[in-house]
Amino acid sequence: MIILGIETSCDETAAAVIKVIDGNKKVELLSNVIASSLSLHAQTGGIIPEVAAREQVKFIIPVIEEAMKVFRNPQEEIDAIAVTVGPGLIGSLLVGVETARTFAYVWHKPLIPVNHLFGHIYANFISEIHNSKFIIHNSAMPEFPVVALVVSGGHTDLVLMKNHRDIKWLGGTRDDAAGEAFDKTGRLLNLPYPAGPQIEQLAKAVEKDIYHFPRPLIDSDDYDFSFSGLKTAVLRETQKDEPLNSERISNICFSLQEAVFDILLKKTFQAANQFNAKSILLGGGVASNQTLRKKFESEVRSQKLEVNLFVPDKKLCTDNAAMIAAAAFFNNEATAWKKVSANPELYFD
Ligand code: KG4
Ligand code: ZN
Repeated sequence: MIILGIETSCDETAAAVIKVIDGNKKVELLSNVIASSLSLHAQTGGIIPEVAAREQVKFIIPVIEEAMKVFRNPQEEIDAIAVTVGPGLIGSLLVGVETARTFAYVWHKPLIPVNHLFGHIYANFISEIHNSKFIIHNSAMPEFPVVALVVSGGHTDLVLMKNHRDIKWLGGTRDDAAGEAFDKTGRLLNLPYPAGPQIEQLAKAVEKDIYHFPRPLIDSDDYDFSFSGLKTAVLRETQKDEPLNSERISNICFSLQEAVFDILLKKTFQAANQFNAKSILLGGGVASNQTLRKKFESEVRSQKLEVNLFVPDKKLCTDNAAMIAAAAFFNNEATAWKKVSANPELYFD
């Protein structure tokens, strides 16, 4: 089976093709194309929804064309089309959904609606990547029960998966998402948007958690998160009567990362222990952070857990369409194209 995935929930315009291999058990990535309007948003310090959607209208067909170049006759070879229906920005979602509906109608193909949040989880189920530029990895597949942490600009959620059909939301953020905490703090420190990658780089020069920012809800016995207090803590630091030089900025970045990552680690391993998880999965833009990945790896080792850690290739952590096609295969069913519509408020069921 071959699936064309389409993703336009935020500022990326993405298309990818996956092929199901190994007797319907694994997914191979044949192409993965992403056009981002990030440089435009960097100028304004955040995403302006209408600007994002207008760019997506321009890019959607060239991006899909590029992704389908792996075939001589895509119409014949593609078996189904998968598309992100939510959550996300309504204008952006509509570009992908309407394009996918049109392809499904004209080509007489099944259309599979996908929740973007499931997509971030299913990035971990792409086992073979043959796309020239990035590494081929992951011959193993996650085993259930799975505890999955989605950490992105819009979401911080912990999910328990007993199998592909039994998925339970354990908890999420009450206010800002982890990536949002980085982006909002970045604005206070005059860092370019999105600030996560820059904060990671600046923190590398530091070894000591000087500011020791608060770690809200770290000891609560639920799976709720709260990150909005962190930007207030950083704001207070920036208002002090000391110059905000590069040394202080780096120290703030390091302390911010430590606070956010301590909370993510504590809650994820709490869930993994409670539910005897065999696999921990990370997903979302923040999961591309090398420091976070290393902290999870060393926690697995130090707790001596019988659990395997899965983190997608960096390219598959941030928004992409490969994860949407993978989620469509493992988790979703085709729906009549007339019934598929964008739902910006979609969440975990
Ligand atoms: O998953 P994603 O591409 O889009 C959403 O669905 O939100 O995630 C984007 C978020 C942004 O908040 C960005 O600052 C953060 O992921 N991010 C990072 C890193 N790369 C992206 N955060 C920390 N470290 C990174 N290296
Ligand atoms: Zn995302």
